[in-house]
Amino acid sequence: MTGAPSDELLWVPKASAIAREAGARLREFFAQGVETEYKGDVDLVTVADRTSEKLIRERLAEVFPEHGVYGEEGTRERMEGEYRWYVDPLDGTTNFAHGFPQFCVSMGLEQRPAGNSPEQDGTIVAGVIFDPMRDELFTAERGHGAWLNGKRARVSRTPDLAESLVATGFPSRKRHDSPNVHFYHEFTLRSHGVRRAGSAALDLAYVACGRLEAFWEFNLNPWDTAAGILLVAEAGGRVTDFAGGAFQLNSNEVLATNGLIREEMVELFKDLFAGRNLAPIPTPQEFAKRRAERDTAAK
Ligand code: IPD
Ligand code: CA
Ligand code: CA
Repeated sequence: MTGAPSDELLWVPKASAIAREAGARLREFFAQGVETEYKGDVDLVTVADRTSEKLIRERLAEVFPEHGVYGEEGTRERMEGEYRWYVDPLDGTTNFAHGFPQFCVSMGLEQRPAGNSPEQDGTIVAGVIFDPMRDELFTAERGHGAWLNGKRARVSRTPDLAESLVATGFPSRKRHDSPNVHFYHEFTLRSHGVRRAGSAALDLAYVACGRLEAFWEFNLNPWDTAAGILLVAEAGGRVTDFAGGAFQLNSNEVLATNGLIREEMVELFKDLFAGRNLAPIPTPQEFAKRRAERDTAAK
C-alpha cells in the first residue's frame, strides 16, 4: 500500500515495488552477514550496497526507461534527462555491517526544467524510503501528502525545542573537520534528547511521521536527502539550510523540522556559529579532578 489512490500517483507505486524488492535483498544479506570493505578510513561498503544499487538501477531502467539514475555506489545514467532518481541503495551501511538493525533503501525523483544543465537542481517530485527490518514504507509524491504504510503521515505538533526529540548524524568522511559535537551538546541540553541512529534517510522519514521534531546534519549527499526532504515537506514540515534559507540538494547542510520549532533552531544555529550562549563542557581532566576531590571528601 502506498497511500494516496494509486491512479493519482505517477511514480510512487512502481518505485515502492522496487524499494521493497531491494529491501528484501538487504534483509537476506543482513541475516547471512557480509564482509565489510573500506571506501575511506571508516567509510564502509558491502556487497549488499552494490547488489541493491544494481537491482534498483535495472528495475528503474525497465519501468522508467527515460529516467536518469544517480546512485551512491557509482551509477550515473541519463543525467541530462528531465527526470532523475537519487538512489541510496543502503542508507546506514555502518549499522548494517555491525548487525545494528537501522537502515533503509532511499529513492528520490527530481524533475528538471528543459534546458537545465546536469549540475542544476530541479524539484523533488517523489520519494520512497523503505525500512526492511520494520517493514515500513514511507512515500510521498508532490502535492499528494506523505504516507507510512498507506496511512497519512504528519509532522508533530510540538511547539518548542524544550519538549522535542531531535536527531543528527556524523560524517564518515573528513571526521576531523566536523564541528557537530558542539551542536550535539547544545541541542542535548535544550531538548528531550538527541538521537544519532545512523541512517539520515530514516531520520528524515521520522520527522515526517512525527517521531522526531527535527533532524540536522552537515555534509550529506543528494542520495541521502532527496526522498526524505519531500516526505517532510508533504507531511507539513519545513526543510531549510542552517540559516533558514532554501535547501539545495548540494547545500551540504540540512535542517528538517516540524515547522513549529524551525525558528528556534535557526536562532540557536546562529548563536552557535557566532560562539554566543554556549554551555561549557567540562573537560575530562576537570571532571577527573572533581571526582578525585569527591572521593577524598567522602573518606
Ligand atoms: C550515512 C548515514 C548516516 C549519516 C552519514 C551518511 P551511508 O549514509 O546516512 O546516518 O550520518 O553522514 O553518510 O554511508 O550509510 O549510506
Ligand atoms: Ca547514505
Ligand atoms: Ca549508502
